[in-house]
Amino acid sequence: VPSIAFVAGLPKAELHLHLEGTLEPELKLELARRNGVDIGQSTVEQVRATYEFDSLASFLGVYYPAMDVLVTEADFYDLATAYFRRAAADGVRRVEAFFDPQAHTSRGIPIETVILGYHRAAVDAAGLGVSAELILCFLRDFTAESALETLQSALPYLDRFIGVGLDSDERGNPPAKFAEVFALARANGLKLTMHCDIDQVGSIENIRQVLEEIQVDRIDHGTNIVENPELVTLVRERGLGLTCCPVSNSFVTADMKAVEMVALLHFGVLVTVNSDDPAYFGAYVADNYLALAEKAGLDTDELVQLAKNSFQASWLPDAEKQAYL
Ligand code: HPA
Ligand code: ZN
Repeated sequence: VPSIAFVAGLPKAELHLHLEGTLEPELKLELARRNGVDIGQSTVEQVRATYEFDSLASFLGVYYPAMDVLVTEADFYDLATAYFRRAAADGVRRVEAFFDPQAHTSRGIPIETVILGYHRAAVDAAGLGVSAELILCFLRDFTAESALETLQSALPYLDRFIGVGLDSDERGNPPAKFAEVFALARANGLKLTMHCDIDQVGSIENIRQVLEEIQVDRIDHGTNIVENPELVTLVRERGLGLTCCPVSNSFVTADMKAVEMVALLHFGVLVTVNSDDPAYFGAYVADNYLALAEKAGLDTDELVQLAKNSFQASWLPDAEKQAYL
């Protein structure tokens, strides 16, 4: 089994990372103090004890309330900066990070506070050797109108994010619900990606929608595609990246989906490894490579391939991408 030092030494891109999912208990307590927010816990151990879940729904039930401590631009800056430092130590050279504006605007935080704080951190990440960009995610359990209003309110900041995504609870919230807002995003030059979470009801139909109706540039998770060979072939032919998250999978479905990821990798699909919500799942990106390697018995060549895939699937300009391939 390869060592963590080998994995951390591989240059890699992280393409499935929720900035709000990087909120470590220590920072949560500090922000709660700073903003006078009563979170009901006062020690790291108490906070960590709340980070417990065994499904996407129970995870989301812990995840969104935790965001109450994020109030000022400096809070968003500090959260993202802590992550970029940790990612740099794992050999991450490129990050395309998700953020959830509606999780904040719905609490009365202006969208500019969120975007400007995160964006300033992304700019400063260059000083750590990390090229960082942002992907604005819509919450799929909110209405399509709310997504549209969110995109419209973000249009003045179009130079501060490179794409849009879709996250939160997939059940009853298929991709087609957001066809209009994603078309508007595309018309504004943004890249498109959507979560196709693990083992959802209607998963294959949702994957079909993201490919045919939305025409995404990438798929987040998406390993259920193995159930449909035609869709696998389509994803391979289009060269679409799948942003897989092994440790996250083990939490929300009790199955890492290692067999599926490795089968897709060997078939030539652009499988990538990512951390999703590292503070909650206790594993940053290098830990995710290692967890998959241990589970599936990957050799160093396969780990190198996964790291190269992460750049190939990234939205880096081609000239910059080539340097890593
Ligand atoms: N799926 C859905 N919503 C999320 C996720 C995820 O993997 N991570 C953070 N919000
Ligand atoms: Zn995710």
